[in-house]
Parts: sequence; C-alpha cells; structure tokens
Amino acid sequence: MSVLFVASELFPYVKVGGLGDVMAALPRAMRALGHDVRMLLPAYPELLAAVEVQGQTVAFPDLMGGGPARILRAEAPGLPLYLLDQPTFFDRPGGPYDHPEDLAKRFAALCWVAAHLGREGDSEGWRPQILHGHDWPAGLMPAYVAYGPGPRPATVMTIHNIAFQGRFPASMLDGLWLPHHAFTPEGVEFHGDIGFLKAGLKLADCLSTVSPTYAREIQMDGGHGLESLMAHRNGVLQGILNGVDRAVWNPAKDPHLVSHYDLKHPARRVPNRSDFQRRLGLHEDPDAPIFTAVSRLDVLKGLDLVLENVDHLVAQGAQLAQLGQGEPLLEAAFRQAAQRYPGRVSAFIGYDEALAHRAFAASDVILVPSRQEPCGLTQLYAQAYGAIPLVRRTGGLADTVVGASPETLQNDTATGFQFDEANGWALGEAINRAMALFRDPVTWRQVQRRGMMAEFGWEHPARAYLDLYASLLLKGA
Ligand code: ADP
Ligand code: GLC
Repeated sequence: MSVLFVASELFPYVKVGGLGDVMAALPRAMRALGHDVRMLLPAYPELLAAVEVQGQTVAFPDLMGGGPARILRAEAPGLPLYLLDQPTFFDRPGGPYDHPEDLAKRFAALCWVAAHLGREGDSEGWRPQILHGHDWPAGLMPAYVAYGPGPRPATVMTIHNIAFQGRFPASMLDGLWLPHHAFTPEGVEFHGDIGFLKAGLKLADCLSTVSPTYAREIQMDGGHGLESLMAHRNGVLQGILNGVDRAVWNPAKDPHLVSHYDLKHPARRVPNRSDFQRRLGLHEDPDAPIFTAVSRLDVLKGLDLVLENVDHLVAQGAQLAQLGQGEPLLEAAFRQAAQRYPGRVSAFIGYDEALAHRAFAASDVILVPSRQEPCGLTQLYAQAYGAIPLVRRTGGLADTVVGASPETLQNDTATGFQFDEANGWALGEAINRAMALFRDPVTWRQVQRRGMMAEFGWEHPARAYLDLYASLLLKGA
C-alpha cells in the first residue's frame, strides 16, 4: 500500500511531545512490513539542515497568501519525506506551534498540499492510496480532499490529543481557501468557528486514537466538546496503542547511560542512579527511592498532584526529580519545592532528551498522574528501563500498566501502581503503596522484571493500522 502521513513533528528533528516519537517509529515499522509509507512535514530549518534533500517535485506561486512554495523530496534515514518549503511560514526559529499570527494558515497550507499530493501525486508519478493525518495540524486535510475535485484518496485521522483542536475565527474561511459551503456543522464549522480537528474527525473516512480506553473516554466526558461527534462516528473509530522504538529506547545500548544493563544484568543499572543524582544535585543516597516525573507541565498532566505530595515524599525518605517545562505557575512551584528541600527534590525546567533517558534508567518510580492521557509514552519507557510507573487509571495509562494488588502480585502480572481519583490524597495513597513495596526488594524486583519483559513493540500497532487501511480500500472509500 502507498500511504502519506501528514504531521507537524518528527523525532529527532522537531519534537514537542510523544507525537514526534510516534511519527519517527510508526511509518518505519510499516515500511519494514513492505509498505510504501512516506511523510509530509513543513520544511522546518532543523529538518532541512539534517536530512538529505533530493530536489524539488512540485511548486506553487502562492499558498494561503504566504507566497511561493514548493515541495521538496528528502530522505531521513529509512523514511522518504516530502517537505513543504514555504519560507514565510516555516523558515524561522521557534517551535512548530509558535508564531500564532499565521498558525492557521501555515497548517492549512500543509493540509492543502497533502490533498494535492493525494489527488495529483508527485512529479515522479507517486500517488498515495491513503492520506493519514495526525492531530489538529492535519485536520483540514480531509476537508480539502472532500471539497476538492476527484479522484480522491482514502483519508484517515489519528487523534493523539483531543484537547488541542485548532479553532480559528470564521472570518478566515476565504484566507484558508475553504469554500463557503464547507462552513456547516457537516463540514468545518464548530460552534461558529473553523475547527481544524473537528473538520478532520467529521470528514475523514476513518478515525483512530492511541488507546482503546481513550477511544471510549472521548465519546463520554473526555472529548473536550467533541464527545457527540465521536460517539456518532463510533463505528469508524479504533483505539490502537503506541509502542516503544527499541532502536532509541534500549537500556542495553542507550548512548546516554553511564552503565548498560538488561534483564539478565539488573545490577548494572545501579551506576545510573548515582550519575543521575549527581547531575541533578540530589544526595547520592543509595537507599532513597527516586520518584521522577518526565512531562510537559500542563494541567492535564496532573503534576499539581505531585506538588501536593512533595512534603509527603520527603517525609518518607524519598527523593523527587521533575524534568519538564510548560505552565509558568507549575515551573515556579517545582523550583520552590527544590529550594525548600535541597538534595532531596530537584526541578529541571527545560527539555533535555539525554536527561530523560537517564531519568528512566535511574529512577525507581516514574510518576504519571495525568488527568487525561491519550496513550502516554513515559510509562512505557519506564517499564523498558526498569523504573516502575505509578499512574492514574486513565486513557492509555489504564491500558498499559497492570496495577499491583495482592492478586496481580500473586500471579506475577503487576507492572506498576495505579490510582483512580484525580486528587493529591489518592496519589499520596498510591505513593504509600509504592514505598511499602520498595521495602520488599524481592517483590519489587519481580514487578520491575515483568515491566522489562513487556512487549510494547511497534510491529503490532503497525499491522493494526495496515489492517485499517486495507479495510478502507476494500470498501472503496
Ligand atoms: P505528550 O505527548 O502528551 O507530551 P507522551 O508521554 O506521549 O506525552 O510523550 C512525551 C515525550 O516527551 C516522551 O518522549 C518524553 O520522554 C518526552 N519529554 C517530556 N518532557 C521532557 C523533557 N523535559 N525533556 C526531555 N524529554 C521530555
Ligand atoms: C499526545 C498524547 C500522548 C500520546 C502522544 C503520542 O501528545 O498526549 O498521550 O502518547 O500524543 O500518541
């Protein structure tokens, strides 16, 4: 099958969160199964500098009023790319979602180009059978396909996070090259605005999201206003879990670690602890359990519940490390906690890929107290690295962590700790359970081993997406 992904992030060049990781792993896993999967992205400066550009395939005198644009063919290792090179929109510093003044136009331009490639193909005659968009930046792609002339490829939208929807004023309709008849509840209109994600979810031939539990939640009360649309499209919506890219996340080979280890050599994990403690200014205490959160600081990630438990953790003799950036109030609160407990609490405000790897290799517990979590990758990386995830039972966290209980410990299926209510007390109670287990090294090792043995490869999800495409093509969508 020939497939074109439409995306806004790609690890290791441009990554804000898990979307970048998934975009790096999933298309390559599909290619390994023999399918011609390629990806369309903006020609960010970071990408142009790092990948091999092979030439221009299509050019446009103007796109969305942003001036001349062209599509470049390029190659990241093992992944053919199409890059939308439109300097006004993309050749500038900053993250992919910065520069609000033309946020709508530049992702609309990306979506329009995707639909163009889907209909016309590139200058070498390659034309995808499937266009697969990811999150709101790709949301208008199914709209340009639906309202444009035929022939049309089949369209798929994957929701990585329904909280980010790309809503813009109706007055932008002409500027986004959308026909007026598209502005209805059956099309791109959403409560009087233009809804990018809404349009994609309404108009794509089929939909997926990144865990079965999240697929249910977004039809009930977790859809951020899109619940009824999701319930209405239930018949074409699937939850497919993400995986772990073992080429990037493997403690036996990870170049960021001071000591490599695997299931057979767990003792070799230990030097990574003291290295991490030293780097973060934590006391090099071999007996203190290290609780760590590696996360964007966003209200949905529930890090305020961790802040409520700082005193509790310290009183029990634990250490707390936080790696992340985001909401200024949360950043300030973590900084204050670190000042209050030097050597016991550490706040790293920033983004550091290497430090994140070290955190998974050093920590005893990875905290993921999310209010909502479509899939979540850090609880998967934690398991692969022998850190035990402590998670709220929501979305993908519910689907990928088996909470320790007398029964799951007895039958050796437990891989972590879970709690239900999104409040500090419930997290505190789960921390108590983790502390109690930590004092029982034999059982702790058992849970750690079970997590390290968990199979979260990408081949299985890749096959699930391929099945979904195949059924679409069979239906003649
Ligand atoms: P989300 O996509 O909602 O942010 P995920 O758990 O799917 O959540 O993915 C988060 C990704 O970002 C993981 O690869 C995680 O290691 C990484 N990450 C988050 N915060 C940081 C940070 N401060 N430094 C380095 N990596 C980070
Ligand atoms: C989103 C979600 C996260 C998911 C990631 C990759 O950013 O917040 O839960 O793991 O996408 O699908």
